[in-house]
Amino acid sequence: MTADRSGGTGRRLILAIETSCDETAAAIVANGTDVLSNVVSSQVDLHAVYGGVVPEVASRAHLDKLESVVAEAMTRADVTSPDLDGVAATCGPGLIGALLIGVSAAKAMALAWDVPYIGVNHMEGHLFATFLERPDIELPLVVLLVSGGHTLIVEVTEPGRYRYLGSTIDDAAGEAFDKVARYLGLGYPGGPIIDRLAAEGDRTVVRFPRAMMDDGLDFSFSGIKTAVVNYVRRHPDVANADIAAGFQDAVVDVLVTKTIRAARRVGAATVCLGGGVAANSQLRETFAAEARAAGLAHLVPDRAYCTDNAAMIAAAAHWRLVNDGPTGLDGGADPSLKLPTA
Ligand code: KG4
Ligand code: ZN
Repeated sequence: MTADRSGGTGRRLILAIETSCDETAAAIVANGTDVLSNVVSSQVDLHAVYGGVVPEVASRAHLDKLESVVAEAMTRADVTSPDLDGVAATCGPGLIGALLIGVSAAKAMALAWDVPYIGVNHMEGHLFATFLERPDIELPLVVLLVSGGHTLIVEVTEPGRYRYLGSTIDDAAGEAFDKVARYLGLGYPGGPIIDRLAAEGDRTVVRFPRAMMDDGLDFSFSGIKTAVVNYVRRHPDVANADIAAGFQDAVVDVLVTKTIRAARRVGAATVCLGGGVAANSQLRETFAAEARAAGLAHLVPDRAYCTDNAAMIAAAAHWRLVNDGPTGLDGGADPSLKLPTA
């Protein structure tokens, strides 16, 4: 690690960049917990016309926006390059072209400013959103990570080491939200739209199937989309709000039930939530209520740290830098990067 640049304050500042999908984000975080700035420039409008993320469009937009997003993060945090102790970027999983923009920029800055570069796993970033607010959390803990590309239950056995307990065998939970919203003609991205619409609906009107509910800790979400399509064809008069509420209820039910089951199985005292779908109102409420009922402590990060952001990447980077040291400047990007296992 490089010399302490904190001027005796012991404050370690990381600039992190997140470009794995359709948000161009940069943040400055001190000591892995103190968020000095968290800037997110969303590309949603660019992709909405296509009904989903177009990789080439995403890469070009990251290239366009990254410099100004980083500059804004530095200005808001009131820091300049000599104050920094490291520059981090998400190096996977994600869209390869999009990842490479962030990784290349971070490595160039690290080289120019003579500070360490840290490549961060995006899912480890989602997991560290929890530690941003509660760095003192007790291990082992069980985390449900639900995003547009992943649905995982992982056990954190020791800091930085993970054990996969369950994952989806087909679609990710966020993907199911997006596909159902698209089928219902609600727009993109589907998660937040279904979340809002479901609040106006009655979840008891339609009971959609809870796939693999009694079957271990894995998930399957491809069948529920087909169930929605079949139901809407047979019942064209049922309101979209009731369909959205019934769909959301089924997804949340399976996610929460399996996370609590996982915690019981491994004897963890705490359950946490992370990833874009963790911004979902019903998931947040049900997760908290069921954890309480099961006698488990629970942690649900602020919404701003659930959907893609760079503060969570900085938090993970801080931990990696202190414990593993810098990533080599020859470190690349891996679209299917896995979490380090125990
Ligand atoms: O973590 P994230 O921002 O990006 C990925 O890493 O994929 O997650 C994006 C996913 C999308 O599928 C989006 O529809 C979903 O998270 N999402 C939500 C909500 N906000 C975002 N799903 C349900 N309810 C929400 N409020
Ligand atoms: Zn994400």
